[in-house]
Amino acid sequence: MATAEAPITVKRFMEMKSAGHKITMVTAYDYPMARLADEAGVDGILVGDSLAMVVQGHDTTLPATMQQMLYHAEMVGRAVRRALVVVDMPFMSYQLGVREALKNAGRVLKQTRCQAVKLECGPNQAELVAALVQAGIPVMAHLGLRPQSVHQMGGYSVQRDRQQLLEDSRAVQQAGAFAILLECIPAELAAEITASVQVPTIGIGAGPHCDGQIQVLHDLLGLTLGRRPRHAKAYTDLKTTIQQALAQYCQEVREGVFPALEHSFR
Ligand code: KIV
Repeated sequence: MATAEAPITVKRFMEMKSAGHKITMVTAYDYPMARLADEAGVDGILVGDSLAMVVQGHDTTLPATMQQMLYHAEMVGRAVRRALVVVDMPFMSYQLGVREALKNAGRVLKQTRCQAVKLECGPNQAELVAALVQAGIPVMAHLGLRPQSVHQMGGYSVQRDRQQLLEDSRAVQQAGAFAILLECIPAELAAEITASVQVPTIGIGAGPHCDGQIQVLHDLLGLTLGRRPRHAKAYTDLKTTIQQALAQYCQEVREGVFPALEHSFR
């Protein structure tokens, strides 16, 4: 008799690193996409604050609110049976102090069925990670390019401060983060960080030596409306598929081909 595969936990992420099994992650923001990703067998789904860009049409992630993240996380949490679901803490939901961060991250676990949060961690944020972990909230720490700090960083550029990144990785691991997301750093540096920590690293634009990879779903499916980042690969061209289907629908309605008899009631 076939049994449903056990849900992926943060502990399983750690075991996968030890066993040398690559971890696969994508973003998702709604029920159908999260369900498809889960059924396709991805190990982790991130409800990313990238939704501000790919769903809402903003040019940065900064406008995403806590309320919006909870709204999308609820849909994703409802859809997923196997993958570990991580929810991004949006800009200014955790920067106002530990109390505010605990309150907001706690809402994710209480209201959404999702299991963990992700924080963009600049230097000296290990204390915050530790406070969340001590409260029983699993934390994925996001290092390297931190899109919420785009104005401070002066753009979306590759991050190369080896010493700082090694230090920050060790600090967030020490604070109890269960995984470290590395965005846009040189491949050799990502390999060095990956070898220097016990928790898994999940890369995006960080080369092949991370313990896992994450991609923004819209990039992976060919749904990017602007420029696709260099580190992203489109595995299909849904933009063209969707446009062609919609153009054909319009044509068939205009020509009286749709609806046909089989789409009509007597
Ligand atoms: O919000 C997001 O999509 C991210 C990416 C780095 C995966 O954080």
